Amino acid sequence: MSKLLWAGIVVIAACGGKQQAATGGGGEDGMSTMDKMMSESMTMSSDNGAEFGPLEIGADWATYVKMNTTPVSSETHGGRLVDTYVNPMGAAAYLDENAEIPIGTVLVKTSQEPDGSPGPLFVMEKKPPGFAPEQGDWYYAIHWAAPSAAWTKKLGGPIYWRTPSHRANYCFECHENYDRALGGVPEPQRIKSLPE
Ligand code: HEC
Repeated sequence: MSKLLWAGIVVIAACGGKQQAATGGGGEDGMSTMDKMMSESMTMSSDNGAEFGPLEIGADWATYVKMNTTPVSSETHGGRLVDTYVNPMGAAAYLDENAEIPIGTVLVKTSQEPDGSPGPLFVMEKKPPGFAPEQGDWYYAIHWAAPSAAWTKKLGGPIYWRTPSHRANYCFECHENYDRALGGVPEPQRIKSLPE
């Protein structure tokens, strides 16, 4: 993929909101943390894991356990709505804040743009020790197959940034601030137990 495609400065979808408060960032629209992180990623050269293709890890997210009862609004990110799915291997551990997340756990966060169109998919997988020790052996990916017209213009097309691409480094830079590197579902909207 041409490096020129990546030249535009971008703000993609935000992943979470709590960090805004933590960093004191955020102006009117509260997106400055994500803006900064995304913009830095966009200026990076193309590398292994930055080329677009069909979603690989997490492609079967529709079969996972949905962890929220109603769409979660990331208010500090323009009211984007998100849903969080965890594969059966990790679902119980996700709900138990004291549990260790098992290797092979895959988490997928789907998102919706304020206009209702599909936003990016955010994917994490807990990998075996040694995969990426500098980021807790977590794999991260952002996949957006059909960005809105405005975003397509900014991004140059669809994106799929994933570990080991530097473009996915910003995920952990924020996630490392959280217990177990998980942002979590707000308690009132979290399911109370696993579905039968
Ligand atoms: C500025 C902070 C921040 C950044 C950057 C960020 N996240 Fe998140 N992420 C959160 C927060 C907070 C939550 C929980 C609330 C929510 O879903 O919005 C979350 C939730 C998630 C979840 C659901 C599982 C969970 O509970 O953590 C996944 C999967 C995820 N993020 C992947 C990613 C990926 C992939 C990237 C990079 C492309 C990324 N995140 C970048 C803060 C962030």
